[in-house]
Amino acid sequence: MRKILVTSALPYANAPLHIGHMVEYTQTDIWARFQKMRGHQCWYICADDAHGTPIMLHARQKGISPEELVARMSEEHQADFRDFRIGFDNYHSTHSEENRELAELIYRRNLEGGHIVARTITQLYDPEEGIFLPDRFIKGECPRCGAADQYGDSCEACGATYSPTELRNPYSAVSGATPVEKETEHLFFRLQDFEEMLKAWTRGGHLQPEVANKLDEWFEAGLREWDISRDAPYFGFEIPDHPGKYFYVWLDAPIGYMASFKNLCGKKGLDFDDYWAEGSDAELYHFIGKDIIYFHALFWPAMLHGAGFRKPTTIHAHGFLTVNGQKMSKSRGSFIQARTYLDHLDPEYLRYYFAAKLGPGVDDIDLNLDDFVQRVNSDLVGKVVNIASRCAGFVTKRFEGRLAAELAEPELFQRFVDAGEAIAEDYERRRYNRAVREIMKLADLANQYIDEKRPWVVAKEAGREAELHAICSMGLNLFKVLIGYLRPILPGTAEKAEAFLKIAPQRWAEIGDPLLDHPIEKFKPLMTRVDPKKVEAMVEASKEDMAAKPQKPAPAEERAATIDYDDFAKVDLRIARIEKAERVEGADKLLRLILDLGGEKRNVFAGIKAAYPEPEKLEGRLTVMVANLAPRKMKFGISEGMVLAAGPGGEEIYLLSPDSGARPGMRVK
Ligand code: MSP
Ligand code: ZN
Repeated sequence: MRKILVTSALPYANAPLHIGHMVEYTQTDIWARFQKMRGHQCWYICADDAHGTPIMLHARQKGISPEELVARMSEEHQADFRDFRIGFDNYHSTHSEENRELAELIYRRNLEGGHIVARTITQLYDPEEGIFLPDRFIKGECPRCGAADQYGDSCEACGATYSPTELRNPYSAVSGATPVEKETEHLFFRLQDFEEMLKAWTRGGHLQPEVANKLDEWFEAGLREWDISRDAPYFGFEIPDHPGKYFYVWLDAPIGYMASFKNLCGKKGLDFDDYWAEGSDAELYHFIGKDIIYFHALFWPAMLHGAGFRKPTTIHAHGFLTVNGQKMSKSRGSFIQARTYLDHLDPEYLRYYFAAKLGPGVDDIDLNLDDFVQRVNSDLVGKVVNIASRCAGFVTKRFEGRLAAELAEPELFQRFVDAGEAIAEDYERRRYNRAVREIMKLADLANQYIDEKRPWVVAKEAGREAELHAICSMGLNLFKVLIGYLRPILPGTAEKAEAFLKIAPQRWAEIGDPLLDHPIEKFKPLMTRVDPKKVEAMVEASKEDMAAKPQKPAPAEERAATIDYDDFAKVDLRIARIEKAERVEGADKLLRLILDLGGEKRNVFAGIKAAYPEPEKLEGRLTVMVANLAPRKMKFGISEGMVLAAGPGGEEIYLLSPDSGARPGMRVK
């Protein structure tokens, strides 16, 4: 018996799960269920990744504590996982005592080993919010191509990567303030100390070949120190002996795997060291997306090694999900949250579709919604479930619900059983697409058998009772084998089928045992066809997910301070007619508006392009503008005022309009 510990990446606690995430959890869950069916001791664990600046700011924006946000998200995540039948043996949180202790331990051992050093660095600081800004929270113009509103680490327009201090006209994405440079002491993990070990490990069969090649590129570029600390305020663990300094979220995130396991040890009486000590004979597998390879294949084994723990047996990376050949998109309705999917469709469909597409590599996988409907209906409903529904009725009505005492065609049955080891090998090597192909070939054979034997004809002829019994019993035995092979992918359907066949949950070794002279239950449909209308409804609801979200008023402390009438009177608000609205060459977010104030014209740049992709449609309408805002020089020209709009930003911005009768130039009071 193998001892196996399996993990999926820990989802961030600041957002709901979407169907892209489900690729990973489905892939891992299938593997873990397979190992358990094989009779190994296998633990599948996960946790919420609770720390970091985005979560802190998100909580602040909602007006709740990070602890509360994290608790709410954890419940939501776990409900989604449960309903997708992701069978974790434990689900924990990185914001836990186990994780704090382990993070401190791993930090201390690496510190004592001389692998952690302190240095003073200069970082961008938001003077209004009083926080140091992570790269992603600083925006500005790209130092290479000049594109506006680019993130602090890379440019989406030209692909350049740079440090945030190189941005031109930087601003804080949190407050809009201009960041200032400020010195601060940080702690660094000396990744380069582990170069020899990592090079050997990379080539030691622990990674997929394409991932190992990627690592070679990183080795060539040179391993550098990794900044593992962040300044307060930060939601995380304070670093021992460094008040006001916190572990960077990615330091304690993978340690969360250990923490979740430690938590499980407490519940099950397992021995933590048995799995994590150097030299452990347990196997450790991490399933991750290709975007987080650097953290898992370099930092993580180095941290473990430096702290005297064992390293992973294999890290398995998968590709990203696209929908209808494109990146998931909110406006197309293809950014589908796990819960929205569950509100409309059976999770077994998606589990099957992903399995049918997943191979051992890092290629992206596409969910084509038409293909999804077609494939699930033809394979699962049309082939697999159909076998049972074609045979079960006769057994119930004509043979008191009992299967025959012998197999009609032992060779055919043996052929199904013999396919088992190859299918097992496919599961083991994560070639689920191949396993599914093999299983469907067998399903075709089973249907062919029934087609040839024509039980519906035999049933009508006198004196052929035994033959009818033999055919249907044979068909149901083939069905039993198929359901056994599909069990890791379709746990819900398998459970229903097992209830129908009156058998215990099948273990792999039992799949080949025929059911002879065995009672069965009355057949109930195991799965219904995918209704394309429900798929459409799901896509529609995903469009609404964002539009229908009610906008909570900002918490009191975030609303602007009270002003008196004189302050208000200083703002010259005017009705303006949008005379011209056009895109601005080289600007991602801006539209240029020519506003008519009843004779006087103003040139205004407004960051509303995403909300109004067809700007010409704005021409002619009335809106409200601030007419006495000091002119502001921008990269594309001078902006002489501001239009008023509501909404959080992006595609959700709504220009204000006056009632009919208002005319350009009228003062708004
Ligand atoms: N919190 C980190 C992981 C820490 S592990 C110690 C994180 N979280 S995540 O929520 O962004 O992603 C969780 C997993 O889902 C990652 O492995 C990620 O690659 C995967 N996916 C997220 N979006 C995905 C798709 N669109 N398609 C496939 N997998 C995707 O990263
Ligand atoms: Zn650029």
